[in-house]
Amino acid sequence: EKDIEGKLPLRNKKILVTAGPTYEAIDPVRFIGNHSSGKMGFDIAKAAANLGAEVILVSGPTHLQMKHSLVKLIKVVSAEDMYNACHDYFNEVDVAIAAAAVADYRPKNVATQKIKKNDSAFTIELEKTKDILASLGQIKKNQFLVGFALETENEIEHAKQKIQKKNLDLIVLNSLNDEGAGFGKATNKVTFIDKNFTIEPQDLKSKEEVAVDIVNKIVAHYA
Ligand code: CTP
Ligand code: CA
Repeated sequence: EKDIEGKLPLRNKKILVTAGPTYEAIDPVRFIGNHSSGKMGFDIAKAAANLGAEVILVSGPTHLQMKHSLVKLIKVVSAEDMYNACHDYFNEVDVAIAAAAVADYRPKNVATQKIKKNDSAFTIELEKTKDILASLGQIKKNQFLVGFALETENEIEHAKQKIQKKNLDLIVLNSLNDEGAGFGKATNKVTFIDKNFTIEPQDLKSKEEVAVDIVNKIVAHYA
């Protein structure tokens, strides 16, 4: 918006970003969720908008706020909601970055009334959710598709498999092994792997710095 001289590198690009956890309902008062704060996705959205991109930020439940005039925040709850919102916008974007921690499973049946306790054990049957990123990989045309991978073992190999399985251009591998990295921490240790399997380990950085690095990969792609 302040690009008076037309110099912002992403000023004519539209970017879809997913963020946060998803909540999968068990009954009207309970859900299955995870500890994702949404910060990585929000930081990516901000970094892209700061370079002039128009951003559609599809986020699961989070306390974070988004004020940037170039970012449109679409709030969703479940993996199914997030899938639908992403497919509403995917055809009109140049780039999609999937930073959300989407639930892999959801309760097969959602109780319409609050489930009452009794004296026996209780089992919830789960079914798979749709893989949003893989579904975008199947229909992508010219879009540059970026995914994340959270791994605890054989991380490079697993991340490479995700690139192929989901038809990605770039994956951001999040390492939990290193001191100071991971869930709830201020810092991340990531490795970039592109579709040619070029591996670029990064230093331990703040989420804001990782977000800027990811957005710079997008800039480089279009340069
Ligand atoms: N993802 C998605 N939809 C899902 C599950 C994952 O869009 N239903 C995306 C995530 O946003 C992330 C990437 O896929 O960008 C990888 O997520 P991850 O949980 O690491 O991998 P999965 O494919 O779910 O496999 P697993 O959890 O078994 O490692
Ligand atoms: Ca998963």
